[in-house]
Amino acid sequence: MDTAVLSTEHAQSGAGSKSVLISPSAVDPLWWRSAVIYQIYIRSFADGNGDGTGDLAGVRAHLPYLRDLGVDAIWFTPWYPSPLADGGYDVEDYFSIHPSFGDLAEAEALIREALALGIRTIIDVVPNHISDQHPWFKAALASPPGSPERERFWFRPGQGDNGSEMPNHWVSNFQGDTWTRTTNPDGTPGEWYLHLFTPEQPDLNWNNADVRKMHEDVLRFWFDRGVAGVRIDSAALLIKDPELSEIPDDVKPGEHPNTDRDEVHDVYRSWRAIADSYEGTRVLVGEVWLPDTERFAKYLRPDEMHTAFNFDFMARPWDASELRDSIDSMLAAHAPVGAPSTWVLSNHDVTRPVTRYGRSDTSFAFATKRFNTPTDRALGTRRARAAALLSAALPGSLYVYQGDELGLPEAEDIPPELRQDPMYFRSDGIDPGRDGCRVPLPWSGTLPPFGFEPEGATTVPWLPQPEDWAAFTVEAEAGDSSSMLSLYRTALSIRRSHPSLGDGTLTWIDSDPGVLAFSRGLGFVSVTNLSDKAVDLPSHVRLLLASSTLENGLLPSDSTAWLRTQH
Ligand code: GLC
Repeated sequence: MDTAVLSTEHAQSGAGSKSVLISPSAVDPLWWRSAVIYQIYIRSFADGNGDGTGDLAGVRAHLPYLRDLGVDAIWFTPWYPSPLADGGYDVEDYFSIHPSFGDLAEAEALIREALALGIRTIIDVVPNHISDQHPWFKAALASPPGSPERERFWFRPGQGDNGSEMPNHWVSNFQGDTWTRTTNPDGTPGEWYLHLFTPEQPDLNWNNADVRKMHEDVLRFWFDRGVAGVRIDSAALLIKDPELSEIPDDVKPGEHPNTDRDEVHDVYRSWRAIADSYEGTRVLVGEVWLPDTERFAKYLRPDEMHTAFNFDFMARPWDASELRDSIDSMLAAHAPVGAPSTWVLSNHDVTRPVTRYGRSDTSFAFATKRFNTPTDRALGTRRARAAALLSAALPGSLYVYQGDELGLPEAEDIPPELRQDPMYFRSDGIDPGRDGCRVPLPWSGTLPPFGFEPEGATTVPWLPQPEDWAAFTVEAEAGDSSSMLSLYRTALSIRRSHPSLGDGTLTWIDSDPGVLAFSRGLGFVSVTNLSDKAVDLPSHVRLLLASSTLENGLLPSDSTAWLRTQH
């Protein structure tokens, strides 16, 4: 790990010349190929001012925790001003910080302080849609059909009598309708506007020059402030078929009217040129949900994004042949474009691994989430530990979602009146939504708010923490060598010091069908046992780390071991 570099850089836009810390990528331009990136869901990380919501002050106070965990970068979910209709993915101003989180000066201080500890900062950009409270959308509503203000969005007349039917029948990613009808100034029903997510998130029209220009300005604005990269939200959705045609039943890759259209690659080529114009490596990380791995890899061509989230591995069940198939197909898909894979066990949208792996269906799909799904949490925790070591040993970069390093389970008993997630509301309460993985972190103590808020705060956390989380606090786990936190700390430290881990290749080792065993370069082997009986380990000179205690030298089921071998 290189150390931070203090340098003077001429600001490329904005307030002229200023002294900023630049990314240590100036020293290691390939840092992102092996990086461990910790995802901060800022509302729930740590509350510095006692208002019940996490903030930049809370993150700044806990930067040493992240350094000690051993992460190379932090990725912030959106920190911009927002009505929070979708947890901040409804951006009101892309050039500022939500007042509940802090201000721009604090963000700049945080970026510098993190870098001084060797931690780079990645931020979320949200190009597909905007908040309905953004001045552009307000101006569009106040302007007539066909006006330049409406051209930045997808306004259309309705079909049927008096335009009372939606312009098409696209299905929302959040269930429900993708169109909302506007009201004219005289009170009569007006045009409809498109929103692939909630009505509070109108889709932008990427054929519009203002839309392209603003996002290029957004990139420059934050790169000027020292951010080392951007995570691109809903990255495959930006371009729509201008005809807004219906979705055919047998839609072929590349022909979907709102997903993964070929023209979207021009956008990322222009963004890559901007990123590459900066000193150091500023990375583009795509949120690209696509079943077709060849189409997925196109986003990672050398003049487009650097990496994209590998959701295939995360969605697969806890099964050796499924996981091996995913690993092989993702590595094969990445190879032709020369990009490293990423490994992701969860994020702010997904059921926590400890809970997911303790269920009869261990795969992940948004459509199958239900309340009251029986869960064996001890089994889930055991598997989540094994999965943590497995994913950290695979070639490429690694993402850790805040709280997974503590083994937090999904919080499933949040009262309906305190739930926030539109996925829950838009499913009429059938889908539990994503609040359960977004509960504020427990830091210390034995009762809520578990050190999430400063001493003496009188406001409760924005989502309630389960009463029985005392065993999951950082304080409790830091002193326990058998805790999930200790496992993560040791694993990340080995990963950092071992020359063959991170970027590179793997070689499978012959093993039982229920076992995943592979070597990474000379001298390192990872073995995961997904079968129901304990198995022999390959010959080795030392056991480096194991996710559960060996039984007479055998690796028990649902466990991973890291070995030092002679070759
Ligand atoms: C991405 C985000 C998710 C958000 C959605 C709409 O999938 O990860 O949290 O709701 O985009 O912006």
